[in-house]
Amino acid sequence: MGKLFSGFSTDIGVDLGTCNTLIYIRGKGIVVSEPSVVAVERGTKRVVAVGEDAKKMLWKTPGDIIAIRPLRDGVIADLETTEKMIRYFISKVLQRRLFVRPRMVIGVPSCITEVERRAVEESAYKAGAREVKVIEESLAAAIGANIPIYEPAGHMIVDIGGGTSEISVISLGGMVVTNAIRLGGDEFDEAIMKHVRTVHNLIIGEGTAEDLKKKIGNASPDKKIEKMEIKGTDAITGLPRRLEIDSVEVREALQEPITAIIEEIKRTLGQTPPELAADIVERGIVMTGGGSLLKGLDVLIANETGVPAFKAENPLNCVALGAGMYFEREKNSHHHGYNYNRQ
Ligand SMILES: Nc1ncnc2c1ncn2[C@@H]1O[C@H](COP(=O)(O)OP(=O)(O)OP(=O)(O)O)[C@@H](O)[C@H]1O
Ligand SMILES: [Mg+2]
Repeated sequence: MGKLFSGFSTDIGVDLGTCNTLIYIRGKGIVVSEPSVVAVERGTKRVVAVGEDAKKMLWKTPGDIIAIRPLRDGVIADLETTEKMIRYFISKVLQRRLFVRPRMVIGVPSCITEVERRAVEESAYKAGAREVKVIEESLAAAIGANIPIYEPAGHMIVDIGGGTSEISVISLGGMVVTNAIRLGGDEFDEAIMKHVRTVHNLIIGEGTAEDLKKKIGNASPDKKIEKMEIKGTDAITGLPRRLEIDSVEVREALQEPITAIIEEIKRTLGQTPPELAADIVERGIVMTGGGSLLKGLDVLIANETGVPAFKAENPLNCVALGAGMYFEREKNSHHHGYNYNRQ
């Protein structure tokens, strides 16, 4: 039976991110791209909304409903809710094709524990997968960024997500060095909030801070200084008010978390075997994840490390794409592997 149907089977790639969950189906593209947020009823824990609908409730929920980000900070803080979220997204995709049980590859942060990994696997089986493989998100990101990971050459991938940043050196399909830090775009937002509060006595929400980052944030100095008006609550009077912020200030606010990421990149380069480091200098660092979209971050990384740095084509989609292509790539890589071994 399995053999008979495997010809029609679908491969599904899932990026279980702390900020966003993406699902990619080969031949169809990205079919789900929603915030990793679940709204539940307080007490009963009944799920009220998932994804986009739930995100609208985040920070604005009435007392009896709470909106949570179950994967926040790169680890599964809330296993039960995470399971519900995974099942919701997957069943949304599989609704009309329940007769074909898909193979599923799920990209998760490398710092995830064994218990969490098994929980993710279990949820995917419960949601209807025929075969499940959980892989490191850096590996998935590298495949999704079209890096030829199975060749005998060093590649560095820097994935800056919402809650985590992962820096890995990959060669021959495996991770040679990998360092993950619990720091990503969320900390950028927090740093902006903190700065605005300290310097201007203005309390702003996470959403406003994220807006500032995306619209006028710039990691390396630029001739053009951009400005944006924000609204918040005065920390002293408690009254709402407006304030104009410019890109220089946002850069100052972001300095600490950005420096931490760059230090981690340098540390990883230091741990890389010289031959592979030579490959990386030649090929450059590839950046993925939403955090890598911060303007000027590629330029800053290149300046600070002396190694060219490039943003992948669709930084936000790389992990889901790579996960979806994983089985295919792995199958094709065996021939290469054989050839290399014979040399
Ligand atoms: N244009 C942009 N400029 C700066 N940051 C951005 C931009 N677009 C998205 N981001 C940030 O990217 C982050 C989300 O990235 P991504 O979806 O890759 O994270 P994730 O995969 O859910 O998280 P993780 O990999 O840590 O589990 C958020 O912090 C978001 O604010
Ligand atoms: Mg990610």
